[in-house]
Amino acid sequence: MIRNATKNDIEGILEIEKASFKWFDGFSKSVFYQYLNEFRDGFFVVLGKSGSIVGYAILADKKGNGYLLSIAVHPKSRNKGIAASLLKYLESKCRKKGFPKLMLEVREDNKRAIDVYKKQGLVEVAKKKDFYGDRVDALVMEKTVSD
Ligand SMILES: CC(C)(COP(=O)(O)OP(=O)(O)OC[C@H]1O[C@@H](n2cnc3c(N)ncnc32)[C@H](O)[C@@H]1OP(=O)(O)O)[C@@H](O)C(=O)NCCC(=O)NCCS
Repeated sequence: MIRNATKNDIEGILEIEKASFKWFDGFSKSVFYQYLNEFRDGFFVVLGKSGSIVGYAILADKKGNGYLLSIAVHPKSRNKGIAASLLKYLESKCRKKGFPKLMLEVREDNKRAIDVYKKQGLVEVAKKKDFYGDRVDALVMEKTVSD
C-alpha cells in the first residue's frame, strides 16, 4: 500500500535512508521534516504486509514538471517490484497534478537504479558533469506521462 507520509513515518524512512545511501548522499532527519512540510502531496511511503515502511519517494514540482527528489527501498524488500510500483504511482500523481513529465537525476554509477528507471520507460536526456562533487556525472532521465 502506498500513502502520503506523515511525521510518524520519519524514523522508518531514516532507517531506509541510512541503509541505502552513504552518509553524504542521504538526507538527514531535519531535511525529511522540511520536505514533509514543503511537499505535502509529494512525499509517499510504501507499507509492507506487517505495516512497516519498506520504501519512500519524494516528488517535487520543478518548473511545472514532476521531479523525483529521492527514492529508496529497504534492502530487505528489494527486487520485489516496490520501486517499480512507486514509480507507477508517481506517474499517476504527475498526471493528476498536470505535470507533463516525470524527471530525475541519478548517479551514472548507480546501475541498479538506472535499470529500474529504464524498465519504467524513463530515458536519458542529458548528463551533468561532476554533479555530485566526486567526479561522478549525473544522468538526467525523464518520461512523458501526459496522455
Ligand atoms: C534502486 C532501488 C530504489 C530499486 O528498488 P527495488 O524495489 O529493488 O526495485 P524493483 O524491485 O522495483 O525493480 C524492478 C525489478 O524487480 C523485478 N520485479 C518486479 N516485480 C517483481 C515481483 N513481484 N517479484 C520479484 N521481482 C519483481 C523486476 O523484474 C525488476 O527486475 P530487474 O530490473 O532486476 O530485471 C533500490 O535498489 C534502492 O533503494 N537503492 C538504494 C537507493 C537508490 O539508489 N535510490 C535511487 C537514487 S537515484
